[in-house]
Amino acid sequence: MSHNTFGHLFRVTTFGESHGVAIGCVVDGCPPLIPLAADDIQQDLDRRRPGQSRFTTQRQELDQVKILSGVMAHPESGVQVTTGTPIALLIENTDQRSKDYSDIKDKYRPGHADFTYEAKYGIRDYRGGGRSSARETASRVAAGAVARKVIPGVTIRAALVQMGPHKIDREKWDWEEVARNPFFCPDKDKAAFFEDYLDSIRKSGSSIGAVIEVVAEGVPAGLGAPIYSKLDSDLASAMMSINAVKGVEIGEGFNAAALSGEENADEMRSSSSNTGNNGPAFLSNHAGGILGGISTGQPVVVRFAVKPTSSILSPRRTIDRGGADTDILTKGRHDPCVGIRAVPVGEAMMACVLADHLLRHRGQVA
Ligand SMILES: Cc1cc2nc3c(=O)[nH]c(=O)nc-3n(C[C@H](O)[C@H](O)[C@H](O)COP(=O)(O)O)c2cc1C
Repeated sequence: MSHNTFGHLFRVTTFGESHGVAIGCVVDGCPPLIPLAADDIQQDLDRRRPGQSRFTTQRQELDQVKILSGVMAHPESGVQVTTGTPIALLIENTDQRSKDYSDIKDKYRPGHADFTYEAKYGIRDYRGGGRSSARETASRVAAGAVARKVIPGVTIRAALVQMGPHKIDREKWDWEEVARNPFFCPDKDKAAFFEDYLDSIRKSGSSIGAVIEVVAEGVPAGLGAPIYSKLDSDLASAMMSINAVKGVEIGEGFNAAALSGEENADEMRSSSSNTGNNGPAFLSNHAGGILGGISTGQPVVVRFAVKPTSSILSPRRTIDRGGADTDILTKGRHDPCVGIRAVPVGEAMMACVLADHLLRHRGQVA
């Protein structure tokens, strides 16, 4: 039984633990002859990498990726391209501090997978959560960089749109701003506010949640399927599989429940202006670019809620492996808002799902 693989034709298997030798993934089903260099993957990994600002964990992982297989220099152009065989990507762990976790070896950390992991497997890698550590998400980001190459006409970007109760002002949305602040926030003023806000949370040893929005533009109409492989259900599954994600919305999401039919259903006018394929011009996008499980040609919009970091500096009540009540203090290095580093992970999951659906679409109807 395997639970480490996702996707059908663009198929990703990740491996490795937080405190093991290395993590990585095998991407199977990537079409041949796509230019792919380690640098292409590294750029995305660098955006997820820890230790880049005081607002993320100070764990200093270099996250240098190596392509072990599935590429070669093209015999004529010399450009490194995919060969159609499995692409294995390796990222070595270079900053493990197992001793940070040794005193919680026999206690279950509240909000973590410790209890459930042990209940299931009877053995638990207590060093940073092992397989359930979000270190695994680096492998997804690496796979996502390959996926982006499979859907070159699609632009996938994500942003942090809420931290704690504080939402951005959507009128001030500027994608350029996302790369300019440590929060991946598209609202410059809110990013300035988050500096002080998160600093006070960090200094108090606490943590806070966030909402991330992922937008894919240039998705052709027709990806997905009406019932069991709805594009929205696959996206929801992909986003929900990210550590600490507790809610996923497509388009209007939960807010749709408060709208009337007039307000919510996206009206259409004849025009090729927004699809490029003589499709309709939608007058709004409450659907988030998906109708009946199939992409409309509008931007695909997914939001996910990330819970606050569970490892905080105040003592918490828990039990030990013997079932006795005890207290726990989680030392080690942690993000005060894990939502920040989930931004590139959300982009990667969107890329993998869309690449998979594009190949499946071609396979059935091309
Ligand atoms: C990029 C990223 C980094 C994370 N870093 C931490 C961390 O430093 N400390 C922590 O307690 N949780 C962290 N988490 C969340 C835990 O991995 C997650 O809450 C835990 O494995 C339990 O899984 P669940 O929240 O999905 O139920 C992180 C999540 C992500 C997406």
